Amino acid sequence: MSLLTDKKILLGITGSIAAYKVADWVRALRREGGQVTVVMTESACRFISPLTLAALSGNPVHTGMFSAEAPETIPHINLAREHDLLLIAPASAQTIARLAHGLADNLLATIALATSGPILVCPAMNSVMFQHPATQANLATIRSYGYGVLEPDCGKMACGEEGPGRLTDWETVRQAILSTFAPKTLAEEHVLITAGPTREAFDPVRFLSNPSTGKMGYALAATARQRGATVTLISGPTALAVPPGVKCIQVTSAVEMQAEVMRCLDTATIVVKAAAVSDYRPAEKEPHKVKKGQAALSLPLVANPDILKELGERGQKNPLLVGFAAESRDHLKEGARKLKEKNLDLIVVNDIGGAETGFAADTNRVTLLDRNGAKEELPLLSKEETAHRIWDTVGRLMTDNR
Ligand code: CTP
Repeated sequence: MSLLTDKKILLGITGSIAAYKVADWVRALRREGGQVTVVMTESACRFISPLTLAALSGNPVHTGMFSAEAPETIPHINLAREHDLLLIAPASAQTIARLAHGLADNLLATIALATSGPILVCPAMNSVMFQHPATQANLATIRSYGYGVLEPDCGKMACGEEGPGRLTDWETVRQAILSTFAPKTLAEEHVLITAGPTREAFDPVRFLSNPSTGKMGYALAATARQRGATVTLISGPTALAVPPGVKCIQVTSAVEMQAEVMRCLDTATIVVKAAAVSDYRPAEKEPHKVKKGQAALSLPLVANPDILKELGERGQKNPLLVGFAAESRDHLKEGARKLKEKNLDLIVVNDIGGAETGFAADTNRVTLLDRNGAKEELPLLSKEETAHRIWDTVGRLMTDNR
């Protein structure tokens, strides 16, 4: 179950060429179990057909203040009441001005005025219009009402202009929507998360590593942010986008990761070590590419620092410590051993062998073992849902600590 399951989202589309992009967002919201109803301004209907949005949302599209089919209903009040979130995307300069000044001269603006729940606004317009002091003042005004504003991207626009004004991307919007629904259990916390593999080079083009993709660590970072934490992510090389609102420090080797963890430790209240750190590194790094036949057939290795163990040895001074145990056999025994040996508060034991639970999978099946001897076996879940369950347990342990 996603945080979007059964959530009622009212999507307000206004007159911008970017209107076609949100058709895909409707599908994405529904794929995650959200229920979408669309309201379109008159100008929006010139850019994309209400029929398209009706087909994609599976609901009638509202375009006018007065419903011919049910004249006894008051659509703006009912629509405002019946939804968990009002998402206005793309939001034109005109609609933003309407919102700022509390105008109620079309259905969407009237709904916004009658909405007491969360409102997210995604501006999209020509960059000169966006940067105009009037638009900026209107955005500041709607922010002061508590509306969330998702800054547009910079880049080339349909009008040929280049600059800020392009509708932001779906992943940013998705994270903002999830943030409005996530419980704010980490609002006071500064979470330090490590993710991904490390690479241990033995010449300028070759390294030792492992197949970690960083998905679990990035899911932890995104969900911690959704739950209100300040998040620092220390990441080995991955192909993943940094979740919005997360500070990411990129590293390559275990030694670099260790240095960054120690540097950021002071402000952290929770540390989660989801990274798959290489236990060994080549004893020497050749300055130039090793040529065929030139290298010995064995590679001398030296041990890398065990970052988590080092943290555990600090004892009392520590933030709450969460480790991962990636195991292919004797999972629980090995997890319990690492929990104790590294002096952790919680360990997340996962099976790296299965197709659904291995390194690159989008799902995971983990068991949580805590310092008090509690054991919680989670079912097969998406990595995002697994992350939320880990934060639930971390929240309980933090409460015990205080
Ligand atoms: N870890 C670490 N530094 C290392 C190795 C591991 O901080 N050099 C952390 C990992 O991020 C993880 C936990 O320790 O949170 C356990 O990692 P894992 O690879 O499962 O175990 P190891 O301690 O390396 O033991 P083994 O390889 O014998 O299973």
